[in-house]
Amino acid sequence: MFDPIEKLKEHLRCASVSTDSHFKEGMAASQKFLTGLFSEMGLSVEVVDTDLHPIVLAKREGDPQWPHILVYGHYDVQPADPVDLWKSEPFEPVERDGRIYARGAADNKGPQMAHIAAVAELLEENPDLPLRITFMIEGEEEIGSPSLSPFLESRKEELSEADLVLLSDTLSPSVDQLVVTVGLRGIVVMDVEFTGPNSDLHSGLHGGAVYNPVQALCEVCASLHDSDNRVTVPGFYDGVTEVEEWEREELVKLGSDEDAYKQFVGVGALHSMSGYTAQESVRYLPTLEFNGIGGGYQGEGSKTIVPSKAMTKISCRLVGNQDPIKVGELVKQAILERTPEGIVAKVKMGHQGAPYLVVPPGKPNSPENSPALLSKAFEATSRAISEEFPKPALFLREGGSIPIIADIKKTLGLDSVMIGLFLPEDNLHAPNESMNIDVLKKGIRVSKSILKSLAE
Ligand code: BES
Ligand code: MN
Repeated sequence: MFDPIEKLKEHLRCASVSTDSHFKEGMAASQKFLTGLFSEMGLSVEVVDTDLHPIVLAKREGDPQWPHILVYGHYDVQPADPVDLWKSEPFEPVERDGRIYARGAADNKGPQMAHIAAVAELLEENPDLPLRITFMIEGEEEIGSPSLSPFLESRKEELSEADLVLLSDTLSPSVDQLVVTVGLRGIVVMDVEFTGPNSDLHSGLHGGAVYNPVQALCEVCASLHDSDNRVTVPGFYDGVTEVEEWEREELVKLGSDEDAYKQFVGVGALHSMSGYTAQESVRYLPTLEFNGIGGGYQGEGSKTIVPSKAMTKISCRLVGNQDPIKVGELVKQAILERTPEGIVAKVKMGHQGAPYLVVPPGKPNSPENSPALLSKAFEATSRAISEEFPKPALFLREGGSIPIIADIKKTLGLDSVMIGLFLPEDNLHAPNESMNIDVLKKGIRVSKSILKSLAE
């Protein structure tokens, strides 16, 4: 018998941090774990080497007439830092209050286990299940999936054989209600460096005579939003699309208590663009965010200098038809144009990914030619969620990004059915990440029910 909780714990013991080369062993352990697991399930497994972290591909082949589901997941996790804020070891899973605590429990090892367990149980129950399944579990999602796009391109013919993608790597509001995610924001990130004098200078000798790069950077950064929190980069909002009426109605059903939200994040006031609620801002609008800023002396006490350098990291979340490469270029241009004389600015582009939208069948703006199996999958998902959870599923766009989902659509022509299995209290990317065991168990039943319907 397949024990999903034990298997999940085993996976969580692999410290698979993709961004830090010190964790190569943990990445390898995770690949080995998945390979073993899929082999035990009777699937044929391939570990595909890439320039960085391998992709685990596992297949249950069969009659070409059978529907073919591509299950996506990622085995890489965010760094555990700051480790001293964890109540237990990040890579030693423990059960507490109906949850499993460990880095990656919610993002993405727990939710992906729902689909793995579902397939394992279905195949145990019915070895002749008329369904083809391909698991594609990558190791670079948390760093922008640089190897997965070229992989899709190189295996395009084979992978576009699938009918649709199924995954769980998105958010639901509570244990009572799951979200079927119908949109993801795109993303583009960049590093900005301002250089003034060729070394740090004594501020008594030079202060007032040269442009301070920290000051210049702050001025340019501050100029990128107006007082309404609107991004001031010309052309930034090109491609932002209207939100459909049914989407607004769906979001109203989610309900939103802005005071509770303020308390949850620990701020005294919100800063949404006027005309938008906090929920709408996160799900429908693009952003330009400073992820970090630095320069000059950061140590104890004081140091009277004009620093030589200042730097910031920026990420933009994108929606609708915004083009990440274009937006990145526009932001870069705005920064360069606004940099004062006496400062040399360098802007280095990082990873990027396009926004994704899928319109479920039966909505006013659903594409007429959407494949029958996709409609069936959305219906089955909605039904399965109603059977397991007290409240019906909500179909909502998400504020987060899984850049490869838009690439899968573009390269393979496949849409994704995304079932949110992590919750706001799961602490993704933060200390004390956890997965609700009850939600995981229900998630397994939801996935089984969907796959069974698709096999019929
Ligand atoms: N699982 C998240 C995406 C997510 C987060 C969906 C919150 C819904 C709500 C994913 O693993 C992630 O963190 N993605 C990164 C992408 C980036 C590194 C390219 C993100 O959104 O920051
Ligand atoms: Mn994730």
